Amino acid sequence: MIGIFDSGAGGLSVYREIRKLLPDQGFVYFSDNAHCPYGEKDASYIQERGRRITETLLEKGAQAIVVACNTATAAAIATLRAAYPVPFIGMEPAVKPAALGTRTGVIGVLATAGTLKGSKYLNTKGRFEDDVTIVEHVGQGFVELVENGILDGPEAEAVVRRSLQPLLDAGADRIVLGCTHYPFLAGVIGRIAGPSVQVIDPAPAVARQLVRVMEGAGILVREKKALRGSFELLSSGDPASARRILALIDAADGKKEKQ
Ligand code: DGL
Repeated sequence: MIGIFDSGAGGLSVYREIRKLLPDQGFVYFSDNAHCPYGEKDASYIQERGRRITETLLEKGAQAIVVACNTATAAAIATLRAAYPVPFIGMEPAVKPAALGTRTGVIGVLATAGTLKGSKYLNTKGRFEDDVTIVEHVGQGFVELVENGILDGPEAEAVVRRSLQPLLDAGADRIVLGCTHYPFLAGVIGRIAGPSVQVIDPAPAVARQLVRVMEGAGILVREKKALRGSFELLSSGDPASARRILALIDAADGKKEKQ
């Protein structure tokens, strides 16, 4: 059983990639939407949420936990790793592939305020800053759009443009999605950015890392029959937003909606 959590429905962008690689595992997903957004909250608050959620996921039988939230990874993954005896797999803005691929020498990072000031991100940025220009912007209002199921249309376009345009104006030809909610706005982001800009979602790399970690720990075993391919949704608030996103990704993958 694999546990996944996020401040809301954003982590489903990671679940979508994980289940492609591990379709026969069982999943339990915790959407902490009663406490969403995490983006501007103190690290200590997010650490406390992380502990409570981890305990719930462990009670459900999780053997590995994906912190499918860049902000929670920055604030809490170290304390969670120190406190619980299961592997935690986190998110990190994909600066490296963007830096290696850019032709203009400018890469743009969209993330929450919490992620952009985290030491993990600052270290990664420091490694590449001599070679490329890194411009950043908080995706202001992006999380709220996704939680409200507004993934396209004039309102989504206006909100996305406000944060994305400064990165494009700076010459960025790679846009790193440093928040797991943002891939659900990829259609709008791609349309505004245009075909010469590549939008990078780290979720496929995180899914591969989860497989490596579980294999390394010897816990990538055949799931109990009753749980194979199962998905349980838990949420601290109204589950409607996560259900809506889940229905969309299921429809895109040609599956029926799961409860
Ligand atoms: N999905 C989140 C992330 O990856 C958190 C967004 C938020 O709650 O502010 O950072």
